[in-house]
Amino acid sequence: MDPECRGGPATDVFFVTMTPKVLAGAVLAYVYNGLLTRFPLRCARELYLRGYLGQFGRGTSVQMGCRFLNGRRVHFGAHNAIGFDCLFDGRIYDIRTGANVSIGPEATVLTLGHDPLSGDFRDKGGPVTIGDRVWIGYRALILPGVTIGEGAVIGAGAVVTRDVEPYAIMAGVPARKTGDRPRNLKYQLDFKPILL
Ligand SMILES: CC(C)(COP(=O)(O)OP(=O)(O)OC[C@H]1O[C@@H](n2cnc3c(N)ncnc32)[C@H](O)[C@@H]1OP(=O)(O)O)[C@@H](O)C(=O)NCCC(=O)NCCS
Repeated sequence: MDPECRGGPATDVFFVTMTPKVLAGAVLAYVYNGLLTRFPLRCARELYLRGYLGQFGRGTSVQMGCRFLNGRRVHFGAHNAIGFDCLFDGRIYDIRTGANVSIGPEATVLTLGHDPLSGDFRDKGGPVTIGDRVWIGYRALILPGVTIGEGAVIGAGAVVTRDVEPYAIMAGVPARKTGDRPRNLKYQLDFKPILL
């Protein structure tokens, strides 16, 4: 057996030291992810998220079942519509969305992983930035370090591995450009479903 497997980690690269701040963060995350996220009153969840997230823009709504890994690094712009059961990973790097961003159900935004070529399982990641009026489809997966340009569309189930140019329509695994969205987008999202 690999000695690292028996005796614990060879380095402390991916282990978080337990400090009062880390413990407080874990408790705040648990209160939302484990208890509040399924509470069927959007305004109650919103109240918590306004204090917990790095930013919760005016007119934004987050549906039930969403989870946040370190919400302090998740910054939602104004008038975002976040679908149910999404995951936002702000463990080390920031996630920032612009205005009028729509994220479909069960989408995942990751900012952290490991370098597959590293002998000591070193962390690898980067911030994710999502521009104004981006529409992300059902079960899309956005990988660490990606910037999605204004107005772009990410198709259902797509895996976004690289930056996306503004107004591009992307689909597939890995996501490839399948078209262009018109540039005259004017809408403002005000999606506030009652029991979601
Ligand atoms: C990506 C999307 C917006 C494209 O819409 P569109 O431009 O009207 O696309 P079309 O139906 O004309 O398809 C264009 C091509 O892309 C392919 N395609 C479309 N969506 C795809 C997807 N999600 N994954 C892989 N390929 C896809 C089509 O098969 C078609 O390929 P072809 O030209 O070889 O036949 C749409 O298909 C989609 O995924 N919408 C998300 C719906 C959703 O998630 N809803 C819930 C949240 S609101």
